Amino acid sequence: MQYGYFDDKNREYVITRPDTPLPWINYLGCQAYFGIVSNTAGGYSFYRDARLRRITRYRYNNVPFDLGGRYIYVRDDETGDYWLPSWQPTHSDLEQYTCRHGMGYSTIGSKRRGISASTRYFVPLDENLEIWQFTLSNERQTPAALSVFSAIEFCLWDAQDDSTNFQRNFSIGEVEIEDGVIYHKTEYRERRDHFAWFACSAELAGFDTQRDVFLGPTRGWDRPAAVERGESFDSVAHGWAPIGSHHVRLVLQPGETRQILFVLGYHENPKDEKFDPPESQIVNKKTVKPVIARYLIPANVDEAFQKLRTYWDGLLDICQVTTPDIHTDRMVNVWNAYQCMATFNMSRSASFYESGIGRGLGFRDSNQDLLGFVHMVPERARERILDLAATQLPSGGAYHQYQPLTKKGNNDVGGNFNDDPHWLIVGVGAYLKETGDWSILDEPVQYDNQPGSEQPLYDHLQRSFRYTLDRLGPHSLPLIGRADWNDCLNLNCFSDTPGQSFQTTTNKEGKVAESVFIGGLFVLAAKELAAIARHSGHADEAAGYLAEGAHMEETVRRHGWDGEWFLRAYDDFGNKVGSKECAEGKIFIEPQGFCILAGIGLEDGLARRALESVRKYLATPHGIVLQQPAYSRYYLHLGEISSYPPGYKENAGIFCHNNPWVIIAEAMAGNGDGAHDYYSRINPSAREAISDVHRCEPYVYAQMIAGRDAPTHGEAKNSWLTGTAAWNYYAIVQFILGIRPAYDGLQIAPAIPERWTGFRAVRRFRGVTYQITVRRAGTGNAVKLMVDGQAVDGDVVRAPADGRTEVVVGVTLE
Ligand code: BGC
Ligand code: NOJ
Repeated sequence: MQYGYFDDKNREYVITRPDTPLPWINYLGCQAYFGIVSNTAGGYSFYRDARLRRITRYRYNNVPFDLGGRYIYVRDDETGDYWLPSWQPTHSDLEQYTCRHGMGYSTIGSKRRGISASTRYFVPLDENLEIWQFTLSNERQTPAALSVFSAIEFCLWDAQDDSTNFQRNFSIGEVEIEDGVIYHKTEYRERRDHFAWFACSAELAGFDTQRDVFLGPTRGWDRPAAVERGESFDSVAHGWAPIGSHHVRLVLQPGETRQILFVLGYHENPKDEKFDPPESQIVNKKTVKPVIARYLIPANVDEAFQKLRTYWDGLLDICQVTTPDIHTDRMVNVWNAYQCMATFNMSRSASFYESGIGRGLGFRDSNQDLLGFVHMVPERARERILDLAATQLPSGGAYHQYQPLTKKGNNDVGGNFNDDPHWLIVGVGAYLKETGDWSILDEPVQYDNQPGSEQPLYDHLQRSFRYTLDRLGPHSLPLIGRADWNDCLNLNCFSDTPGQSFQTTTNKEGKVAESVFIGGLFVLAAKELAAIARHSGHADEAAGYLAEGAHMEETVRRHGWDGEWFLRAYDDFGNKVGSKECAEGKIFIEPQGFCILAGIGLEDGLARRALESVRKYLATPHGIVLQQPAYSRYYLHLGEISSYPPGYKENAGIFCHNNPWVIIAEAMAGNGDGAHDYYSRINPSAREAISDVHRCEPYVYAQMIAGRDAPTHGEAKNSWLTGTAAWNYYAIVQFILGIRPAYDGLQIAPAIPERWTGFRAVRRFRGVTYQITVRRAGTGNAVKLMVDGQAVDGDVVRAPADGRTEVVVGVTLE
């Protein structure tokens, strides 16, 4: 069953009924001002940091789930009937409803009793504001007298404090209303230099800023008193809950359409110019007024929208493919790339499942997110890498997370996740291969944000590498620390106290438990670092890295192979985890994918056997589960992984993030059919037809799909913010289609299904546009390369020596 369809040409997903199984959301803004918007206009906005600069209030896990957002009420002033184009929160019967989620905008519209209303929400590029472009049409035979009410609820900035500290917060709310613009200025009188504003292009019949006056003290958003009676109260908030609501009255002739603009923005003033007059407590509006004026003019708004579209077309056009599979095309060309922008911006901080208050940006997460993002805006990837590296500790270890507003490591969570440092090598490698910008390695970067501790970025990579060598366990495998990629495999935690954090509690010294996964990651990092060294004037060091990598590879073979698959770990007692010897959790996905991805076992058959075991024990029609058999009870020595009921999350759920590791492994082993088959099982577009089972958005990946041990097998959860986005993009583009930035040029090494006759691609890479045609001539993956009509040895296309910017590449697969 479907709830909408893809409009591929317009790069939109069109939702045709409001009662989707879960809110189906979109992101507004891609630079500093962000919003989350659901298909029923739920959600909120913030500036840079979802916790510390929350602009509008949102109640998570509400009843119904998605209540509160960017509402516009339409009232028939003759009958008193009122409803919203977004359906929520009145749930009125509609004659028609559509939500179009596009690239950085959403348009939600509906029709009731001959009146059509629709709102396009977007954030213009380079501005800290969002526009609600509201259109109202009278499709009746008679004139219609209508009222329109906007409504948002302001957050008192720190979203955590806002939802807990009521004894203070009920007394601090403040607003100003000037020329019809509502200014939200809570705490501006003291240490804040920022405020929010909410403006409307039409002449106002009234306004409200006190929530419980607008709604009435005992009512909800579905029955606001002001809307019901057809007149605002002109309330001025003092304390309690400041809101912004404009009231506009208009009469539409039959066939007439009118547009009203509502604009919500964030603004900062210089500290010493906060007030106007200077000695007053009145917000200085000198610099914000021109911004407000600009965006209340429809032509400027249209232009800003066009610019946004052009911007996204430009980003997506960097890599476009035409394959025999529509689901591959629309994910690669549009939605997967688009999701990679969201994961780059948000890491795992703000979605409908991440509240924006719990986490900053993850060190490992953000580094991995670069894999799917770096080709779109390399300058921002560069900045992110330097920010991440600056939070690294002198030991080479890393803070697990940092706060985007302060860019400082988060002390509450701390470090000792022993995989973390290596992801910096992976992220920097991806950046260098995409851009060829070797200067980044010489950038002086602090350790732990301490002035005076600056060392070249290359030094950070060396310390990342060293970190593991300084922390080897009894089998010479890497010690796991608090956890590795799997945050829930807590082998040193031994927590028996309710509520203790599995991530930050450590009750063992951690000198025994080892991770085979980090072993694989180390082997990959060693190869990457060696390549970086070779290309950047440190050739003498490359051999050393390779030797350490080879040594670790040997150790993994000796102590990390279980006979039919790679082991997962050794626990604090030195016992195996993820072995045939275990009663539960015999085989895990992570080491199978990652050891092979690092190249282990490709030559000697181990990889083949491990992949056969994955197929036999872990693969389901809905994707590959994390481990089997699921843990049926809590194991003190394993930690959070065994805290989940079987089939969910890390306990044998289909944790989509690591499915692409197996996809890449299959591609590296030359099995294009297997790789694309796994790819399709979790491809959201390919699952659109079972939306009633999948339940999450069919246009983006979710973190998890319930595994076969769960009663809801196939049901997705935690959409949008997941490493799945970057890894699947990387897997399909770079390993199945095989278009892979390399240090020396653009490598083309596809591993496509046998039945595919070929595909086409356009890839802009280091200033050159490559028109690529791949044609299958035999059943294998051997590449024969023609560059501008000339046969070329190998599979790497080098940059044209004569400065041409268009290159035609023909690939024959034999
Ligand atoms: C989740 C993990 C997550 C961790 C840290 C756990 O509860 O299961 O997926 O990485 O929390 O936030
Ligand atoms: C989600 C976390 O953000 C990520 O860092 C971790 O690797 C996975 N969960 C697996 O636990």
